Amino acid sequence: MVEEATNTVVPPEAQSEAWAGARTAHWADAWAEVPALLRAGAGLPPPFEAMFGPLRQGAADDLVVVGQLGQSLDGRIATTSGHSKYINGPAGLDHLHRIRALVDGIVVGIGTALADDPQLTVRRVAGPNPARIVIDPGGRLPRSARLLAPGVRRLVVTLADARPDVADDVEVIALSAGPDRHFAPAAILAALAGRGFRRLLIEGGARTVSSFLSAGCLDRLHVVVAPIILGSGRPSLELQEIERADQAMRPRATAYAIGEEVLFDCDLSPQRRAVGTANRST
Ligand SMILES: NC(=O)c1ccc[n+]([C@@H]2O[C@H](COP(=O)([O-])OP(=O)(O)OC[C@H]3O[C@@H](n4cnc5c(N)ncnc54)[C@H](OP(=O)(O)O)[C@@H]3O)[C@@H](O)[C@H]2O)c1
Repeated sequence: MVEEATNTVVPPEAQSEAWAGARTAHWADAWAEVPALLRAGAGLPPPFEAMFGPLRQGAADDLVVVGQLGQSLDGRIATTSGHSKYINGPAGLDHLHRIRALVDGIVVGIGTALADDPQLTVRRVAGPNPARIVIDPGGRLPRSARLLAPGVRRLVVTLADARPDVADDVEVIALSAGPDRHFAPAAILAALAGRGFRRLLIEGGARTVSSFLSAGCLDRLHVVVAPIILGSGRPSLELQEIERADQAMRPRATAYAIGEEVLFDCDLSPQRRAVGTANRST
């Protein structure tokens, strides 16, 4: 059965002067307090309350899990060769760095770690750097990977018999998996919750975000659509096949124009399964 969804499009002129003046000092000032306010459970200045307020508290348990995808108009997150660097423009990248600044940890799959060698730091906006977590069942991450640079907690989620080549201060989470070497996303979240994580960003790539989505392990999904057409490449999501369009997931979504790009903030809380501990107030 398909649930009725109420989608909202917020036109740029109604998104407060803050969006229109995205590069003004006033806008930067409005952002500066947001990471601390969110962590304190307080309201956020406009326009950030609408967009990031839902990250204050999860609906199902003590965790808030947000996925993000930066994609082309034709739904690709990378070229066939795996190149994704210029899909999103400045507005989309700023948005990604804002989410990073709001979470305790960023999770990426080993495919992204190998293809992009990302730093996973907050560089484009003010805010703290979160922990960096890579799902690497086979222990393939090279010791030189930039996400292993010291300064914050770094964690590798791996199979019990894998031997990741990492420094002593990198935390290794050994999980068991079936013959397909696939960890249940709920087990990854539970392990991270047990290590004190409360807000997590599942940053990519497609396989990782897709597996968290299909396992009911996302509270929100932020999709930033850039006005480019790749015409070929890797799809942003790969889920189980459906036969009919009316079987599609139809999350409640709000669209925001951010610069030339459009953010779809999808509310997945109705299908989020509980994995953490009971809800706290902040
Ligand atoms: N535009 C964007 O927003 C964006 C963001 C991030 C990345 N990207 C692009 O996405 C591409 C990489 O995406 P991808 O889908 O190929 O790879 P990925 O999702 O980054 O990594 C997938 C791999 O991570 C491991 N993994 C993830 N979840 C797992 C689980 N639950 N259990 C066990 N292992 C798990 C597996 O490693 P094993 O293979 O070792 O089993 C899996 O094959 C790159 O081209 C990158 O540039 C784009």
